[in-house]
Amino acid sequence: MTTAARDGDTIVRVRDLLEVFGARFFAPGSHAVVEARPTNLYHYRAFVGAHDLEVEAGDCVYYIGDDARSALLRRGPARIASRHLATVVRGYMPEDKSTSIQQGTTLPYVNGCSTKQLFPAERPGDPTLQLLHMPPHTTEQVHHIHSTARVVYIMTGRGMCIVGLGGQQVRHELSPGTVCVLEPMCPHHFETGAEMLECIPLHVFSSIAREELDHPMLQGTHLIDRR
Ligand SMILES: [Fe+2]
Repeated sequence: MTTAARDGDTIVRVRDLLEVFGARFFAPGSHAVVEARPTNLYHYRAFVGAHDLEVEAGDCVYYIGDDARSALLRRGPARIASRHLATVVRGYMPEDKSTSIQQGTTLPYVNGCSTKQLFPAERPGDPTLQLLHMPPHTTEQVHHIHSTARVVYIMTGRGMCIVGLGGQQVRHELSPGTVCVLEPMCPHHFETGAEMLECIPLHVFSSIAREELDHPMLQGTHLIDRR
């Protein structure tokens, strides 16, 4: 369920708001195909629900196992049957991999959250599949943006995804099987209430520390009032 944002007394159309900010949500059991926007730097295509896919040479596919508690990576050319969520990334072709997701997380993150690298980036900046664990009553980061798209599968628990800025925000409920696609620069964060949340975000190409260090406007801006 998505709740409408309010701008004064005007209810802003949620669909427009999600389109403006670049967020798409799919309820458990949905069947859809989402493609990178024409303006994106990197191309992906996400297949929500059951799909038989042909993956071309030069591409790869990340997908959730039939048990919804495992993940696989296949290098094209390949043919796969995906039941929950599969994302084809163009122009990246690491070796085949698979993993069960039973051991929990291994890396402390922020606000009591923790993560595990299910499929780490082969080289800095490459795509990566992560596991994010959020205990009850926390937030994943403060409100933030990413430079590349995120395709997220909700594996266990419940929470909320908050998208937008200022008074123009949408809260979307997350439950097992929900898929959420966040385009680059989509302002968002996740929250939990009484329940924990575990999700599997695919970073369609990832960020590296040098992104900030080599940023001419960030590094070339010197605040007058800084003490
Ligand atoms: Fe995020």
